[in-house]
Amino acid sequence: MFTIVNREEMAGGTVILNEIEAPRIAAKARPGQFLILKANENGERIPLTMAETDPEKGTVTVIYMVVGKSTELFRRLGVGDAYQDVIGPLGQPTHIEPGKNVVCVGGGTGVAVLHPIARGMKQAGCDVTSIIGSRNRDLLILEDKMRLASTDLHICTDDGSYGRKGFVTEVLKEKLEAGGVDQVVAIGPVPMMKFVSLMTREYGVPTMVSLNPIMIDGTGMCGGCRVTVGGETKFGCVDGPEFDGHQVDFDELILRLRAYTEQERCSHERCKW
Ligand code: FES
Repeated sequence: MFTIVNREEMAGGTVILNEIEAPRIAAKARPGQFLILKANENGERIPLTMAETDPEKGTVTVIYMVVGKSTELFRRLGVGDAYQDVIGPLGQPTHIEPGKNVVCVGGGTGVAVLHPIARGMKQAGCDVTSIIGSRNRDLLILEDKMRLASTDLHICTDDGSYGRKGFVTEVLKEKLEAGGVDQVVAIGPVPMMKFVSLMTREYGVPTMVSLNPIMIDGTGMCGGCRVTVGGETKFGCVDGPEFDGHQVDFDELILRLRAYTEQERCSHERCKW
């Protein structure tokens, strides 16, 4: 169980795709839900939203960026190796309303989470304009899949090495100015989701974001994933991961995500790779 059956490296090896054998999860999972994975018995529990599920094959796919000790441990697992634990599907699935004009905005590895949502919306008859971005061309992922999942695709890079030079918010502003947008979905780095939400609030366009706070149990018991939404405490794992971007306290979320930065750095440095 939880054997890796396919592994791909993207973005120069900094982003990894793992297709994992997990038939019972694959049979139940829906777009927007997530898993918690552990590389080994003492490993940290890492939440990752599913990028793909294949109920017939009995597999689920996650795509993650290598950013610290635990994701470095994940990166060392090859095809035929297995995760110690994979728990899921967790969280609420994406609510899709058919026939809407939707703009999907994705940054970095958030594009992997955005892809099944954009595809599901297009299949439900929505007009899906997608805007995806990265720092440079090498870090851009899933362009071909996003093109298929969208009615119209725009690409931005910070350095102009591919697509339009600039941020995804610049293209989004043009779309909002043109009017006719029923909903925006934004998934990516927290500052990107914050600025998309600030912009769409000005235009009164409902905006959904997918949050990835620090998690432990993933079932609503520990409180580690607390986020403030509309002045109320919500749990990312059971109430989310998707929330109304206009209601999220992003500044608090950024502070909570940084809470263990020093411990994470020490733990990574102590590893003898
Ligand atoms: Fe423990 Fe959400 S991860 S309550």
